[in-house]
Amino acid sequence: MKHLRFNLNGTWIEERDLSPTTTLLRYLRDRRGMTGTKEGCAEGDCGACTVAVAERGPDGKTSWRAINSCLLLLPMVQGKHVLTVEALKGPSTSLGMNEDYHPAQVAMAKALGSQCGYCTPGIVMTMFEATYRTDLDAPWKLDDQLCGNLCRCTGYRPIREAADVVAGSCPKDRFSEGLQAATPGSMALEYEAAGQRFTTPASFDDLWAELDAHPDARFVGGGTDLSLEVTKRFAVLPKLVSLEGLAELKTLSETGGAFRLGSGATISELEDFCRTRLPSIHRMVRYFGARQIKHRGTLGGNLCTASPIGDLAPVLLSLGATAIIRGRAGERRVPLDQFFTGYRKTALAAKEVLAAVEVPAVPATARAVSYKVSKRRELDISTVSAAFYVDTDGAGRVTVARLAYGGMAATPKRASAAEAALVGQPWTEAALEAAARAISTDFTPMSDHRGSAPYRSLVAANLLRGFFEETRDVKQPVLAARHAATVQSSEEVPRG
Ligand SMILES: Cc1cc2nc3c(=O)[nH]c(=O)nc-3n(C[C@H](O)[C@H](O)[C@H](O)COP(=O)(O)OP(=O)(O)OC[C@H]3O[C@@H](n4cnc5c(N)ncnc54)[C@H](O)[C@@H]3O)c2cc1C
Ligand code: FES
Ligand code: FES
Repeated sequence: MKHLRFNLNGTWIEERDLSPTTTLLRYLRDRRGMTGTKEGCAEGDCGACTVAVAERGPDGKTSWRAINSCLLLLPMVQGKHVLTVEALKGPSTSLGMNEDYHPAQVAMAKALGSQCGYCTPGIVMTMFEATYRTDLDAPWKLDDQLCGNLCRCTGYRPIREAADVVAGSCPKDRFSEGLQAATPGSMALEYEAAGQRFTTPASFDDLWAELDAHPDARFVGGGTDLSLEVTKRFAVLPKLVSLEGLAELKTLSETGGAFRLGSGATISELEDFCRTRLPSIHRMVRYFGARQIKHRGTLGGNLCTASPIGDLAPVLLSLGATAIIRGRAGERRVPLDQFFTGYRKTALAAKEVLAAVEVPAVPATARAVSYKVSKRRELDISTVSAAFYVDTDGAGRVTVARLAYGGMAATPKRASAAEAALVGQPWTEAALEAAARAISTDFTPMSDHRGSAPYRSLVAANLLRGFFEETRDVKQPVLAARHAATVQSSEEVPRG
């Protein structure tokens, strides 16, 4: 399709002359006068701009997803249904509440969850998603649902109480009943306006053709990283190729003792898939951004930014992952520890995409855990992250040690000296201490506002010690529901 086409609050809209890097937020406010959707930070941190988008998950089901409209470029909603807070008013409820408002709005009002009201529409849209979720069965999941929405006035207790009322209530209303009709259509797009080009190929043949014609085009996945160039640096990006239309890249599958994780899978899809299959990945993504970010950010985008503090790289390095790179000639495989070639550089050649990551299944004999250390638990960037994998033989000697870190070097990196200190040794505190000492020869971290070099070095060694402690009894421990430290366990009672 040559023009933008999406459904906004129940009406199909076509646009032909807007810059493709117009964010949905600016479009709603400036072009549509829909000022219910607010702008706070314009960088995905505050949630004031939250809207709901109908997305089809890997199970084929369509669900409403809370998403930050400030990071969503208009072509990213091609063929999709978008709801803003303005759509919520009107008969929708079967909860016996005020018929004119959505249960999320009623619950917020009743709980006194709003004062100045600036954050309220965004919070209501996050609660809107929660209303139709069927998996909000534990108290911590409510925190996780809400952590992408900041409020400066009210205090979070009434907001959380309001969320508790509606979360998982799944009323039979026009929003749940309309979901089938809101299943996303084709995203295929070849759009040019304001001197910019944005294409969304629906097949690899179309992708290669686009790259032949426009070799200088940049890829975009969920846009949670790239859109910041638009909203923060006011960059005019002349040519973008979205990979979102390539269904094959979204597949998460298990074959022959290995998992293939498609680069287009979102972090929330990955979180669901890895819960029981790859607990160390699940544990790392628990505190990855907030729900709105997890719904858009992709595995491929996280690895291809090659950020030294990207959270997925260390855990995938520790699991011995292989990058599957695809170009016109087919696929090639690169061990992930050779994928990051320098600061924000990867082994991808021109006209190649990261198609997937292959991760071997973790044997029952292996210990595998990941850790994220940041200044704040929710919605923060890592200061240091680490992920460890240690396997032992029948005699308790270490046969494989992969110790990977983020935030310790220019790229996510394995601690090869520490690994060498472990392999062949019995898995004991003495061997562990030798490895922890060797970390100082593996890394010369930098000091910045997140942490000094000595702090990072100490944390890196201590995380290894924590790993030893934590895997004494359970080889692949999951993170406790509510925990006060990186390494701790306690259980909590289910909701309701
Ligand atoms: C508020 C906020 C919180 C965040 N929190 C975290 C966090 O806790 N942990 C963390 O690690 N990151 C975090 N991020 C960073 C970002 O969300 C993640 O890195 C995310 O996974 C990026 O994925 P994306 O699809 O949105 O990338 P995009 O922005 O779409 O792309 C990023 C880069 O990767 C390239 N690219 C994307 N996919 C491919 C592909 N398949 N092949 C080749 N190149 C590709 C693009 O060309 C672009 O250069 C956060 C970002 C924000 C805004
Ligand atoms: S404006 Fe703050 S998250 Fe979008
Ligand atoms: S009510 Fe004022 S910011 Fe939340």
